[in-house]
Amino acid sequence: PFIYGTDRINSLGIELGCRASRETIHKQLNNSASVAYKAAPILDTTIADSTPVSVISPIDAKTIVGEVSNSTVQDVRAAVEVARKGFTGWSKTPVAKRADILKAASELMEERRACFFHLLQTEAGKTIDDAISEVREAVDFLRYYATQACELQGVPTLLPSPTGESNRLLIRPRGTFVAISPWNFPLAILIGQIAAALVTGNAVIAKPAEQTPLIAAEAVKLLHEAGVPVSALQLVTGDGAIGAALVAQPGIDGVVFTGSVEAARKINQSLAEKDGPIVPVIAETGGLNAMIVDATALPEQVCDDVISSAFRSAGQRCSALRILCLQEDIADKVLDLIIGAAKQLTVGDPRDFATDIGPIIDEEAKTRIEAYLAHDTAGSKLVYAGEAPKQGTYIAPHIIELKRVRDLKQEIFGPVLHVVRFKNDRLKDVINDIAQSGYGLTLGIHSRIDGFAEHISKQLAVGNIYINRNIIGAVVGTQPFGGSGLSGTGPKAGGPHYLSRFTIEQTITINT
Ligand code: SER
Repeated sequence: PFIYGTDRINSLGIELGCRASRETIHKQLNNSASVAYKAAPILDTTIADSTPVSVISPIDAKTIVGEVSNSTVQDVRAAVEVARKGFTGWSKTPVAKRADILKAASELMEERRACFFHLLQTEAGKTIDDAISEVREAVDFLRYYATQACELQGVPTLLPSPTGESNRLLIRPRGTFVAISPWNFPLAILIGQIAAALVTGNAVIAKPAEQTPLIAAEAVKLLHEAGVPVSALQLVTGDGAIGAALVAQPGIDGVVFTGSVEAARKINQSLAEKDGPIVPVIAETGGLNAMIVDATALPEQVCDDVISSAFRSAGQRCSALRILCLQEDIADKVLDLIIGAAKQLTVGDPRDFATDIGPIIDEEAKTRIEAYLAHDTAGSKLVYAGEAPKQGTYIAPHIIELKRVRDLKQEIFGPVLHVVRFKNDRLKDVINDIAQSGYGLTLGIHSRIDGFAEHISKQLAVGNIYINRNIIGAVVGTQPFGGSGLSGTGPKAGGPHYLSRFTIEQTITINT
């Protein structure tokens, strides 16, 4: 059901289904591999040069993907100054023209998909399936927001007016937006944030995750080639400290952020402590996502949906399934199927088509997951641990049984699935524990009883509820994505209300 940007980009996915064209893909990927990728701040000003450092692939420490020069605090200051000037011109560009530029960028991205597949695989450790979905999502964001912006800002809304007066509502951009994006969707989320801010007429300073600067640099260069002026879109590179310096600058009018809850809190705090205007933040964070399965569910379907929700992308999606709640009559059967299916999963080099689970993004993340796995949570039982390559940052799928949902205290950003059994009369505890976690991103429900899903959905403030299917892979325009509480501020990415948050409203009243 991919509605935007699907046809042509999907044809590659279809090609991948047959042997002959796998060779084509390999050839395209190899050609992209011979390019010397470099990321450096892209600023419309002269900057202090920093020494480039190698970008090392998560696939293995010997694979160097390219090199990055990181930004300095002077760069950050200069970027804000330039963006404020850039805003003046870019905001006056008609929305139809801004939308056309985004559409041109989407065409270019389709043309250059092999370069992005290559970088998504080597810099972010994505399997080819994940790389294809991600390019498709980025293309979708560009086209969807282009269309949405024309609807939002194309013609002022005429308001009911008494005789002798005319009232209109204009939708204007806010000014300069900082866009801080994560490594787990280094292309799609980066493009989604930038596209939304740019198309509504804002100037943007993008700060990608320190792990994935090369993908970001290619994407920003592509947008410039499509017609976005450099003063309207700049790139700064570096770690969290550079992001923090950027957020703390005077002259920022909005921040759009995807990442951890802690970082979102720090951004909020930093903005709140600044003098001057009150600056809004749009944050998308994590989740303690559950799936509730009752005894009427179809075990084979549950198994399929659990495997993809918990282990695809090595569990490094904020939408990923963290805790599976099985009604006890069906629990043994479903768990057996899941363990059987997990045994079939191959962990390893994502460039190999047979690989299901690629690497964890870096050593630090791997160590965090391993520390969790080594820690003995009271009442927990390891029911399955798969095998992974010893070298590199690989982690095999793990399944851990817990007594209660509330025993899971933190989001484990990796291929670790928790399982809880419940008796029918304890369903309310399961629901209560999910609510009490404070997160509200994704939720799965498997049941063939009319009203069961509705009964649960009504009690939980979760952003994306999936019934009788997997809980990952929200499609732009079809499943607007994002949660509430600890999971984010809204609005939903890829949804009809997202662009409004990048704008301000102005009512014009004329005494005629
Ligand atoms: N948009 C992604 C998904 O739905 C989130 O991480 O899987």
